[in-house]
Amino acid sequence: MRYLITAALPYANGPLHIGHIAGAYLPADIFTRYLRLRGEEVVFVCGSDEHGVAITLRAWQENTSPQTIIDRYHPLLEASLRRLGIEMDYYGRTSHPVHHRIAQHFFLRLLEKGWLERQEVEQFWDTQAQTFLPDRYIIGTCPHCGFEEAYGDQCEKCGALLAPSDLINPRSRLTGSVPERRPSTQYYLRLDKLQPHLVRYVQQHSWKPNVGPVIQNWLRQGLSPRAITRDLSWGIPVPLEGMENKVLYVWFEAPLGYISITQLWAQAQGEPQAWERFWKDPNTRLVHFIGKDNIVFHTLIFPAVLMAVEEGYVLPYAVPAHEFLNLEGKKISTSRRWSIDIDAYLEVAPDRIDELRFVLTALMPQTKDRDFTWEEFSVRINNELVATLTNLLHRLLSLLWRQGRAHKVQPTPLWLQHRAEAARQIGERLENYDFAGALDALMELARQANRSLNEDAPWHQSPEKAYEILLGYTDLLAAMGTLLEPFLPTRVAPTLRSYLGVPLFSWKALETPSPLLAEITLTQQPQPLVPKLTEKELQKMRDTLLPVSSEEKAPSQAAPNVYISIEDFQKISLKVVTIRKAERIPNTDKLLKVLIEAEDGLHTVVSGIAQSYTPEQLVGKQAIWVANLMPRVMRGVRSEGMLLFAGEGASALVRVAPEHEVPPGTPVK
Ligand code: 2FM
Ligand code: ZN
Repeated sequence: MRYLITAALPYANGPLHIGHIAGAYLPADIFTRYLRLRGEEVVFVCGSDEHGVAITLRAWQENTSPQTIIDRYHPLLEASLRRLGIEMDYYGRTSHPVHHRIAQHFFLRLLEKGWLERQEVEQFWDTQAQTFLPDRYIIGTCPHCGFEEAYGDQCEKCGALLAPSDLINPRSRLTGSVPERRPSTQYYLRLDKLQPHLVRYVQQHSWKPNVGPVIQNWLRQGLSPRAITRDLSWGIPVPLEGMENKVLYVWFEAPLGYISITQLWAQAQGEPQAWERFWKDPNTRLVHFIGKDNIVFHTLIFPAVLMAVEEGYVLPYAVPAHEFLNLEGKKISTSRRWSIDIDAYLEVAPDRIDELRFVLTALMPQTKDRDFTWEEFSVRINNELVATLTNLLHRLLSLLWRQGRAHKVQPTPLWLQHRAEAARQIGERLENYDFAGALDALMELARQANRSLNEDAPWHQSPEKAYEILLGYTDLLAAMGTLLEPFLPTRVAPTLRSYLGVPLFSWKALETPSPLLAEITLTQQPQPLVPKLTEKELQKMRDTLLPVSSEEKAPSQAAPNVYISIEDFQKISLKVVTIRKAERIPNTDKLLKVLIEAEDGLHTVVSGIAQSYTPEQLVGKQAIWVANLMPRVMRGVRSEGMLLFAGEGASALVRVAPEHEVPPGTPVK
């Protein structure tokens, strides 16, 4: 199979944050690397999205030109993606003349084929700035919820889709003045006429559970014609006479960037026609990695455009969209400074890139929103990546090193089966866009190896027997050099391969239960592949990357003893959780910091139980958790929810737990 992989083109108006990485670029990269190891023909393209309101607004705020903004951010975006190991074949930009030409060609072709319609509309005009205002430049009161800062295209408070004319008291975001309505002419794409074709297309493809319902919802409501031109000065000019000062709508032309960037890639290869193989041969699978806010554009509008031009373009084969990654329980927001910027991360932790990839893969918001916390970041690195995976590799490497350099590869048949089975499972999960699941299958292989190594206990055996046991793991070590590659390619996987002096193997070979090679020769004394993350390091990351400005307010005292309605009670989310870790909070006599596991991962709770329980008495036990209590910060620790204990007085508390163990996250009703 041939694949063309794309990741959402980031707006060239600011840095990327961890949510972008977990949602689009990292899964695209893991997928691409895996396909390459399978020997598939793959091209992965991305680039900067350089038109649209986001860019102009930024330029306006900085009192500079859009060109200055994009020229600043375009190289920065590419550099940070590359440093994260996102291995794109070509990183382009939508301001490139090749892109402009393609976008204009598509527009004219749609016109020629009768899919466009001219409409006279009324638009808002800013009399001070002397410009038409795009929908998002207009704010006003939402007619649905009364939110006073709703945008002209959508209310961010209640989510309602709006037109600027729906807003009560509209005003310009540029100048604050009350805009005037003026007539204008725009071109509309006849999505209504294209709907039957789209319905057929959607039926012929399979969609992730978080994507399908979104598409169905749009189709059920019925698509209406959509304007693909705008009154703006920044963008791709509409290629028609009498349409001066009008540009193509950014969401019409940006996805065409996938095509223009593939063309630029082909030119750079010295094979200018090569792009057509990827776009016009039905044997190509076109896969778009995007965030959930981009679903409609990639699953309906872009396919509509591709089919309507009737030039033999392939349609998206899959659109693995991701949900959002939140940060310490709150939505990531660059403008509210609640974000971890990738550039800042790379600055503070340049040697911890694979670690970040590991955590973001484990937390990938594949079908629902997930939450990134520093606590989980450190637990996942120290207690999983290091404790389960890289310690195992280091232990094996060090034991071998003590025996000399050259070693026979003598796997037991059982281990060949385990390795082959794990490779198949990882591959299958990746092909289903289950990246966290694939990583888990890899970790399961490591857990299995840890268990079996501890049972074999070479350290308790005679030297000959111990060495024989070790040789049983050499094939696994060599395989790990490739199995890790899609996930940890910037340092860990290549370092492991270089210690072992082994190449990358094909994924097919990994799935075959026969030894990968006959012998390995260690090249140098192995060092731990991932050093433990220290408290100091973590603290530095927290302080630099997400300074907490003010502690959230302490709650009011005990609840008054009054009746509450059943509706009020039902608002409380109670769950059974398993306590994974507990520690005293320094300089307090009552507080424990408790790490609990629910169905959606780990959470931290500060609990006033230190006079009744030692941390050791709690680890591994279950408890009842009030899950949806407003989080608050106590003694510098952010506490999510509350654990329930019975009793009066701090030193006589008794844990409340289910009669027998149930899965973490089981609701209490
Ligand atoms: O949402 C965004 O960041 C857009 N710049 C994504 C565009 S993806 C593609 F259509 F170009
Ligand atoms: Zn609203």
